[in-house]
Amino acid sequence: MSTTIPSQNDLASRPTAGAPPVTTPVTDPVTPVLKGRGLVKRYGSVTAMDHADFDLMPGEILAVIGDNGAGKSTMVKAVCGAVVPDEGTLELDGEAVLFRTPIEAQAHGIEIVYQNLALSPALSIADNLFLGREIRREGFLGKYLKMLDRRKMHDFARTKLSELGLTTIQNINQLVETLSGGQRQGVAVARAAAFASKFVVMDEPTAALGVKESRRVLDLIQDVRARGMPIVLISHNMPHVFELADRIHIHRLGRRLCVVDPQSVSMSDAVALMTGAMAPPPAAEAVA
Ligand SMILES: Nc1ncnc2c1ncn2[C@@H]1O[C@H](COP(=O)(O)OP(=O)(O)O)[C@@H](O)[C@H]1O
Ligand SMILES: [Mg+2]
Repeated sequence: MSTTIPSQNDLASRPTAGAPPVTTPVTDPVTPVLKGRGLVKRYGSVTAMDHADFDLMPGEILAVIGDNGAGKSTMVKAVCGAVVPDEGTLELDGEAVLFRTPIEAQAHGIEIVYQNLALSPALSIADNLFLGREIRREGFLGKYLKMLDRRKMHDFARTKLSELGLTTIQNINQLVETLSGGQRQGVAVARAAAFASKFVVMDEPTAALGVKESRRVLDLIQDVRARGMPIVLISHNMPHVFELADRIHIHRLGRRLCVVDPQSVSMSDAVALMTGAMAPPPAAEAVA
């Protein structure tokens, strides 16, 4: 609950003398975790993102669907610092932000699970969880000799994996190269969920997996959501999208065409919308 700030029009129409200014309390509309407006990215003559809008709401799984080349990956890269837009604005929890690198986005609590599994196969599960952000030992050993606090890292890794119910992983010292594709993707999702404080982006997390392995990763994604973490999920797999998504952002020709509710739109209509075979219903276009 907060008070509104009077707009310039309110101020102009208010009598200039007499009673002090009145502010009317209103219930705040929900602020998106991330809000993008008018995002543009050009590569030479190709416009990969053409005034795209984007809203991720607290606690939701927002699926992003669209044809190949629609600009989905470019847009989600823009919300996590891997692409710097030529135009447009981003707000994180209502504050204007500009991410020039993925590290800057990470520093703001945004994590991405890449399609091509950014894990190091020759390292252990625990080491992969901490790749690039190892915990050093306290005092002289850590500061000057750069010694790592393996015990702390292992405890953290074990806690995070069990919190997320990754029960098929017995030993966090196991090398990632000995894991199945689904288990590896599980480690990548766990890593993102462990370090994100704002949201996690997943670009086709089940694309390379078989049916059984996909199932585990889908369950894991639901566990991450159950812990209150918002997720942006890019997927071509309509059954997965319809199973997981709270809302579906349909991307077409570089921009958001509409956002639909999976409860009230059929899979075939969603596909028709993303391919242009069907125009969006008026209600679906009404996204602030
Ligand atoms: N780094 C790049 N250089 C040149 N063109 C690119 C680059 N990234 C994307 N594009 C082009 O931008 C368009 C959108 O691509 P992309 O965002 O990958 O779409 P999607 O993920 O929906 O398949 C495509 O035409 C693609 O070829
Ligand atoms: Mg893509």
